[in-house]
Amino acid sequence: MVDEESKKKKEVAHVHSVFESISKNYDWMNSIMSLGLHKKWRKKAIEELGIQPGDRVLDLCCGTCDWTISLAQTVGSKGQAVGLDFSKEMLKVGQEKIEERGLTEQVELVEGDALDLPFGEDEFDYVTIGFGLRNVRDIWGAFSEMKRVVKDDGAIASLELSKPPNQLYRKLYFFYLYKIIPSFAKIFMNKSNQYLWLAQSLEDFPEIQELEDMLYQAGFEQVSIDLFLGGAIALHIAEGTV
Ligand SMILES: C[S@@+](CC[C@H](N)C(=O)[O-])C[C@H]1O[C@@H](n2cnc3c(N)ncnc32)[C@H](O)[C@@H]1O
Repeated sequence: MVDEESKKKKEVAHVHSVFESISKNYDWMNSIMSLGLHKKWRKKAIEELGIQPGDRVLDLCCGTCDWTISLAQTVGSKGQAVGLDFSKEMLKVGQEKIEERGLTEQVELVEGDALDLPFGEDEFDYVTIGFGLRNVRDIWGAFSEMKRVVKDDGAIASLELSKPPNQLYRKLYFFYLYKIIPSFAKIFMNKSNQYLWLAQSLEDFPEIQELEDMLYQAGFEQVSIDLFLGGAIALHIAEGTV
C-alpha cells in the first residue's frame, strides 16, 4: 500500500516535471506529431458537444490552452472558458496566447489538480480534457470530478491517444511513439526522455471500449466514440447522469 502510494507520487512528480520542461516547445512538437490535425479533432469535438455562445466550459489539463482558446472563441463574450492545469510553465505559454488573441475577458486560467477541482457541483455546461487522461494517472478520479462539476444536462469529452484495434498498425504506432518521436525530440530539442513518456503512458491506458465502459460505470447515460487515424486517437463524449 505504502509502495503503491509512493509509486503514484513519483509518477505524478515525473509527469509534472516533463510538462514543466517541454512547455516552450510543446506547441510546435504537438503540431508536428499530429500533422496539424489536432485542431481539426478539437473542432469536431466542439461541434459534437454542441457548445453554444454563452456557455460556461471547463478545459482540464489545458496545457498551453489550444483547446481553451477554441472553446473561448465558441462561447463568445457572454460565455466563459476556464482552463486548469498543474504546470505553471504550460499555463504561462497559454496565458501569452490568450493575451495575443484578446481573449482575457472570457478566459480564466487556474493552476490546480484535475483530481481535486476547486469548483462546486454543476458549475459547467461542458467539461473537456485533451490528451490529459493518460497523464492524470487516476482515470476514475478524473471522471468523478468531471461528473461532479458538469451540469446534469451537460456533457464531457476526452480527446486522447489510444491503441489502434489493428494489431499490426498498433505495433507500427508504438514504434513511431517509442523510436521516431523521441529521436526527433532529441535532435531538435535535446529532450528525448520527456517524449518517451508519450509511449509509456499509453502502454497501460485502457482500450477504446474499456474507456467507454468506465464512463458508463462512472454514471454517464450515453457515450459516443469517434476514432481518428484508424484509432490512434479517440474522442469519447459522455452525457446524461444515471
Ligand atoms: C499532453 S498535455 C495536453 C495539453 C492540452 N490539453 C492539449 O491538448 O494540448 C497534458 C497536460 O496535462 C497536465 N496534467 C497532468 N496531470 C495533471 C493533473 N493531475 N492536474 C492538472 N493538470 C495535469 C500537464 O501539466 C499537461 O499540461
